[in-house]
Amino acid sequence: MPDVRTPLISGNWKMNLDHFEALRNLQKLAWLLPKDIYQRSDVSIHPPFTDIRTLQTSIEADRMDILLGAQHCHHEVTGAFTGEVSPVFLQKLDVKLVICGHSERRDIFGETDEMVNAKVKAILKHNMTPIMCVGESLAEREAGETEAKVLGQVVNGLQGVKKAEVGSMVIAYEPIWAIGTGKTATADDAQQVCASIRAAVTASFGADAGASVRIQYGGSVKPGTTEELMAQPDIDGALVGGASLDPDDFSQIVKIAAG
Ligand code: 13P
Repeated sequence: MPDVRTPLISGNWKMNLDHFEALRNLQKLAWLLPKDIYQRSDVSIHPPFTDIRTLQTSIEADRMDILLGAQHCHHEVTGAFTGEVSPVFLQKLDVKLVICGHSERRDIFGETDEMVNAKVKAILKHNMTPIMCVGESLAEREAGETEAKVLGQVVNGLQGVKKAEVGSMVIAYEPIWAIGTGKTATADDAQQVCASIRAAVTASFGADAGASVRIQYGGSVKPGTTEELMAQPDIDGALVGGASLDPDDFSQIVKIAAG
């Protein structure tokens, strides 16, 4: 069944680009991507919150096929959570995919597996797709703990999620040591971890969920590394940070990944 999984290439802009810059970036990206690319791949961008309304307007007005994403949200719908953003607000802005559990959120802002699990459920409840990030640190990799760490995050993050919902989700394997460092996991290493993630999903949620969950690789993805990563049977897309800020590089990555 692997051919049911449409590649998903996502640009995580992190805390970069104000809404004017973001608009220019989006419009250049849309212009660089041929119309037929969306028949072979899904493309999402994840700008800062303050850019989302501007980009939504442009996507709608110009009938772009680029999917609007967010980088984070709170798990509650409303209430006394100063500074947080509700999944309902994102849904109202036509956000389709929400990253959760990014290693920067986990490491800098103290998000735990339990918090990530609550976000996954909230995102699904509001008809958006979670991109749940997992990954090991360099110390964990060197201690031979990669699988234990990553599969623990997968199992905890998906606790209590329905089988069909798991099958509709995206899991991004992002080794922390490869993020923003220029170091990429070898395609073989990335494939091995992604295959283990799929096996863990299959074991807990059944063959259908395992076959349809999309698994992205993230960590210093560049145009030059995309082809080999995407050729791996269990890698269904890429979550791109730095290179997604440059529409030329990002459109190259999308074209290569779409095949
Ligand atoms: P880089 O592509 O800059 O390494 O970032 C990866 C990432 O964290 C995407 O979420």
